Amino acid sequence: MDTHVKATADQDGDSVAAERDREAGDDSVFEVFDEDVAGDVRDPYPELAAARRAHPVQRLDTSNMPHADDAAVFFVYGYDDIQEVLRDGKTYSSAHIIDMLMGDIMGKHIILGMDDPEHRRYRALVSTAFRQKALANWEERLIVPAVDELLDRIADRGRADLVTDFTFPFPTIVTAGMLGLPREDLRQFQRWSIAILGFHTHRERAVNAAQEVKEYLAEILAERRREPREDVISDLSRAELDGEKLSDEEIFSFLRLLLPAGIETTYRSTGNMLYSLLSRPEQLQALRDNRALIPRAVEESIRFETPLLNITRMATTTTVLHDVRIPAGSTVMLMLAAANRDESRWNDPDDFDIFRTPRPHTSFGGGSHNCLGIHLARTEMRLALEKMLDELPNLRLDPDADDPHISGQVFRSPAALPVLFG
Ligand code: HEM
Repeated sequence: MDTHVKATADQDGDSVAAERDREAGDDSVFEVFDEDVAGDVRDPYPELAAARRAHPVQRLDTSNMPHADDAAVFFVYGYDDIQEVLRDGKTYSSAHIIDMLMGDIMGKHIILGMDDPEHRRYRALVSTAFRQKALANWEERLIVPAVDELLDRIADRGRADLVTDFTFPFPTIVTAGMLGLPREDLRQFQRWSIAILGFHTHRERAVNAAQEVKEYLAEILAERRREPREDVISDLSRAELDGEKLSDEEIFSFLRLLLPAGIETTYRSTGNMLYSLLSRPEQLQALRDNRALIPRAVEESIRFETPLLNITRMATTTTVLHDVRIPAGSTVMLMLAAANRDESRWNDPDDFDIFRTPRPHTSFGGGSHNCLGIHLARTEMRLALEKMLDELPNLRLDPDADDPHISGQVFRSPAALPVLFG
């Protein structure tokens, strides 16, 4: 274990129990994190729908900007158009994402920013850690105990803020467990995660945290190479394709990407699901009466409140999309949230309806970069909901709470979910 982390834990002299109590709710860092990235746009959907109807593929007016010709940016709003882009990685490259996600924070080998053939090889190697068998194992060993632990802490209280008490710590505990990190390092891991996730606004803090996390993981990786265990770091260290293995740098890049890709998105999607249901008590009651509806509720909430509203590609060649000419070098913004409310695909798309006939949405992207954590995210959300219905009877929004709501324009989720139960 990293000596710095161990020394900090020892100096603090915290018992493991106290450590666990605090690791869930370092409210001050949490608030800073959420201020950083969420913003306060409550309902971007009317504007997105108007844009989708008026011009499904729209060129951003850059006439007032310098170098307008070099800087063409297009927005794509419709479901089918977005799928067309996502399926054609040759015309629409992901390579610029590495610059956007800042190679100095995540490392140079970011899967999100790879094109084929590099992407195909790398994805095949890292996917071994996400196979179905591993997921079943994590469900039992990690996800259920994490949910139980967090709910046990609040069960006797009769009230909680499900964001600070549950949705925020939950995916960090699961991810740290998947990586096989020692339990006593969890609080430090959470601090690093928050610092890295805040890279949009506090760059230096993120760069430092990324460096520290890399040094920390390097020690763990060396240990796992000597003595493999049942965890993602061991899986990645053993993964092999045509006699080739992942380098240490490739492994670090992947592990660091799991923070924004796996922790932040699931934190947001779980909060969105809980808010969507709590603010529609009749649909929550329907789930209590028929638990078989839970997977549908999970999927509908991921469609209805898309956690990550847009992703980007860059045109490698001049092309045409929905009759609009897109010059080579243009940035193409895929408005996932708009596509998930496309009326040509869903009836009454602006209604949250767990009874609707499910159709694939695009919150997890699509094509070859389709989210690698899709089954994990669904499993985490399903188990969170199931256990909350079991453990928190009569769960409801606190009627005296200060206006809980979902907000954000790039990422969306509630900043607080004050609830009563029992
Ligand atoms: C509801 C929760 C989640 C949402 C909404 C989500 C969304 C997405 C989206 C939209 C992409 C595609 C990005 C692009 O094509 O540019 C993606 C890719 C990815 N996601 Fe997720 N994600 C979620 C959960 C997770 C989890 C839990 C993990 C892992 C622990 C994860 C790991 C990844 C990885 C590694 C990629 C890159 C795949 C590739 O480039 O081939 N995600 N995710």
